[in-house]
Amino acid sequence: MLFNKNKNKAPLVDERLSHIAFIMDGNGRWAKSRGLPRKLGHKQGAIAFEKIVRECSKLGIKTVTVYAFSTENWKRPKDEVDAIMDLLADYVERAKSEDGTRYVFLGDKSILREDLRTEMEELEATSKNREYTLNIAFNYGGRAELVNAFNELVREGKTEITEDDISSHLYTRDSQDPDLIVRTANECRISNFLLWQCAYSEFYFTDVLWPDFDEKELYKAIRSFYKRKRNFGDVK
Ligand code: FPP
Repeated sequence: MLFNKNKNKAPLVDERLSHIAFIMDGNGRWAKSRGLPRKLGHKQGAIAFEKIVRECSKLGIKTVTVYAFSTENWKRPKDEVDAIMDLLADYVERAKSEDGTRYVFLGDKSILREDLRTEMEELEATSKNREYTLNIAFNYGGRAELVNAFNELVREGKTEITEDDISSHLYTRDSQDPDLIVRTANECRISNFLLWQCAYSEFYFTDVLWPDFDEKELYKAIRSFYKRKRNFGDVK
């Protein structure tokens, strides 16, 4: 019932797939294979990102999370880091005139450029009552997120904590855990992404480089998801 016969057609999505997360890998390789500077790979990656975010919304997916910049990505050459910051600034500027999306930035904003941080916070505030959620993980690390949550709980005076306490102190506190995590570019690891939240996620790995990840590739990932049997530890 969930599959259209034509593989290029959009699959039907229901409540079993309400949250997809993407590790957008392979921008550098995409650029290198064309003799281009890495930053042009990120530029093309940003185009793919916008296309996929739009398509997920059209399919009826409620929440999308993307890994745009990790706490480890600061190790990259300055011009590459600057290029990613500029792509984010440009995106935030355009997102201001988007009216259907709730934007949430996962990660530590405190060390970002002040003008960019202010714009990000304003976008979060003005969009907070909207339904379709886009979580952009930026200066994000899963371990740092957990440490931050534990420290908040300590400051609140907790001496014993529950799983719900932890979940409600993560940057993702307003989102359900991801049903599906997609990673592109032939890498099969989690790279410090959503470490707590991925406990029962399904994973989909593809060789396709992120800038080439288009609607058809998204449909393949979704179709693969719907072939899985999720028992959440139970027997069914
Ligand atoms: C990983 O590919 C990608 C990143 C570190 C950056 C992801 C950024 C974007 C897709 C565009 C920016 C979007 C926004 C909203 C800011 P890689 O560079 O590690 O690729 P490689 O493994 O082939 O070198």
